[in-house]
Order: sequence, then structure tokens, then C-alpha cells
Amino acid sequence: MKPFLFVTDLDHTLVGEDKALKELNDELERHRQEHGTKIVYATGRSITLYQQLTSEKSLLEPDALITSVGTEVYLESDCENPDLEWSTKLSVGWNRELILEIAENFANELTLQQESEQRPFKISYLIEEAAAKEILPQLKLLLENQNLKFNIIYSGSQDLDILPLYADKGLAVKYIQEKLGFFPETTVVCGDSGNDIALFSVGEERGIIVGNARSELIEWYSNNQTEYRYLAKTFYANGIMEGLHYFKFLDKAVAR
Ligand code: GLC
Ligand code: MG
Repeated sequence: MKPFLFVTDLDHTLVGEDKALKELNDELERHRQEHGTKIVYATGRSITLYQQLTSEKSLLEPDALITSVGTEVYLESDCENPDLEWSTKLSVGWNRELILEIAENFANELTLQQESEQRPFKISYLIEEAAAKEILPQLKLLLENQNLKFNIIYSGSQDLDILPLYADKGLAVKYIQEKLGFFPETTVVCGDSGNDIALFSVGEERGIIVGNARSELIEWYSNNQTEYRYLAKTFYANGIMEGLHYFKFLDKAVAR
């Protein structure tokens, strides 16, 4: 078997069903040992909330880590310092203070998320779906009028992230792909919600959408079907396993 670059979102994708998680972990660890497969997590969580999750669930140590919706990359298990080359790329044209100031105009609808989720290249709010539909076009317009460059991502009917223009999970995967020497055909990305769309749309990476995916991702998938994207029937890590077999990254289950 050939090595592949395994990239997965955590909440409601890899994590959601403990028994399936353990089985998948075992398969992946074996593949890493035997074939040199690399494991990357791409999460919306900050490094703080990621570390909290690792204390609650048994996760494999990743070969690289993408946190805060693609705005931070950690290589070589150094969880203290995000990769400087990536941060430098994101800082071009990013004006965090001015965005915060403009968003204040919608203080009634936008609630800032907890402090740990506010990061140098990420501003995050909570906003209900109905309010988001109404407010987001207005917010975008105000930001554009100031010539600001940004990327707005709405996920899970509640989370609003404002990021630098060239920051998302997909672009962070491209960056890591180059560092680790993998190609779209040998990369598989897995997700369940809005902030994962970038994983599936950045290129021709093999994409696994778990069966329990949120409506925003299912809707995107139905408008963007190709042979390199797969909507699993099963949920969470079971869905990932199903997809890995579909794309033939894993050999058929054999008795061991
Ligand atoms: C995670 C992060 C949160 C973000 C959300 C969606 O839950 O903790 O800050 O808004 O993902 O990207
Ligand atoms: Mg998720």
C-alpha cells in the first residue's frame, strides 16, 4: 500500500463515536508505521480547546496540526509556536482591529465567542441563522467599503469566523501538503460542516463527507459532485472508514 496524507476535522467528524474512533485509530496507526502515512488534524478549535479535547478523547499524535479554522499551523509537535512562515503569509493586508470596530455596528446580533477562540488571525462570534442571513451581507459590504480583505465562514448554524482572505482549512492543507511532499491524489480530507467546505474545494483532494454532515455541507456537496468527493452513509469515524475503503486508501478488512 502507498502512504497517503490523512487530513480530518475533529468535532463530529473524527470524534463522535468512541468505538469507531478506536478502530480507525488502529488502522491509521498501522498504516503510518507500515507505509509512512501522515496524519493531520484540521480543526476550528484554538490550540487551547484542541488540547482540552486530547485530554477527553484518545486521539493519535498528529504529524501536523491545523487549528483555528486554518489560521494556525503546528509542525513537529511544537504546540507552543504556530508556524511562522504560515503566520507571515496571513498577516498581509489583515487589519484585525478595524474589523472588530466595524463589526461593533452589529453588536445586537453578534456575540463574541469565548476569549480562547479569539486569535491573532481569527475573530469569532455566535449568531443565529436568521440573523446571520440578514446581517452578513451588510457586514460584508461595510468591510468591503473600507477596502478590507477577509474571509467570512459560517458553520453549524451558529459560528461566524472572520479570517484573513487567504486563510482557511483548505489553504492550510495545501501548505502542509507541500511541506510533506504529497499530492491531491494521495491526500484525503474529511469533514462535516461549513468550515470544512474549504477542505473539499481547494483542489482535487479525495474528500469524505461523513453521513452526519450538517445541512450547509450537504447542500454544497449536492451542487459540487465529482468522482473525487464521497458522501458516506455512515456517521463519524465509521463514515471516514467507509470513505477510505471507497477510495482504496485502506485494504479491505482482513482478519488479523
Ligand atoms: C470551533 C471553534 C470556533 C469556531 C468554530 C467554527 O468550534 O472553537 O471558534 O467558530 O469551530 O469554525
Ligand atoms: Mg466539525
